[in-house]
Amino acid sequence: MKVAIIGTGNMGSGFARAFASQGIDIVLGHRDPAKAAALAAELGPNVEGGGIAAAVKFADVVLLALPYQAVASVLSEAGDLRGKILIDISNPATADYKELLLGHTTSAAEEIQKAADGASVVKAFNTIFAGLISPETRAGKALQTFIAGDDASAIAKVRELAEKLSFEPINAGPLSNSRFLEPIGEMNIHFGFFLGMGATVAPAWVRV
Ligand SMILES: NC(=O)c1ccc[n+]([C@@H]2O[C@H](COP(=O)([O-])OP(=O)(O)OC[C@H]3O[C@@H](n4cnc5c(N)ncnc54)[C@H](OP(=O)(O)O)[C@@H]3O)[C@@H](O)[C@H]2O)c1
Repeated sequence: MKVAIIGTGNMGSGFARAFASQGIDIVLGHRDPAKAAALAAELGPNVEGGGIAAAVKFADVVLLALPYQAVASVLSEAGDLRGKILIDISNPATADYKELLLGHTTSAAEEIQKAADGASVVKAFNTIFAGLISPETRAGKALQTFIAGDDASAIAKVRELAEKLSFEPINAGPLSNSRFLEPIGEMNIHFGFFLGMGATVAPAWVRV
């Protein structure tokens, strides 16, 4: 599986480091290709870095580690998206992280799908803080990630990637269920940053 990661911030660099340490070949893409190349050089031989369109062209799976507000314009300049699997990890939060920009009747994931003709968007990882992407940061605790999408083979690939990082993938149903997953991500932000629990918390569904 060829994986591109767009964005080199907290999530992009975290996923690149974690996937690379599992032996997965990664291409990082950034609006400043030199920035992606510099991070790639730091992460080791199985990571390359450059421009966004080049990274997308290389990959069959593209993880969008961008603010939700940037995704549509980035995708419009990213080249041919047909047949690509796009992983949407976003929580479409306001600048102060206290509210969601949209919801109830749509979601970031559904809006990204509308902007990505011919691609399959899969929602995942939006309830995982950057500091918990790598398995060794979790003190042995099993973390769930909720995966929503409409394309079974795309979901299977995202589940496989989640399992490579020792997450327990939970089937969250169709992509439209991102309307419910994004508020869970937002609540996690409130627990982590505004209610004093710290950015080492994550939601889990418990069967009793
Ligand atoms: N951080 C978390 O713990 C966490 C947890 C769950 C989900 N998420 C989601 O993950 C996504 C990324 O979050 P993050 O914390 O990694 O953010 P971040 O650290 O701010 O990184 C964002 C990346 O996107 C790039 N970017 C910003 N605006 C852009 C634009 N208009 N065009 C092209 N590139 C642009 C930034 O480039 P520059 O380097 O030039 O700034 C940076 O590389 C968000 O959707 C967030 O909701 C984050």
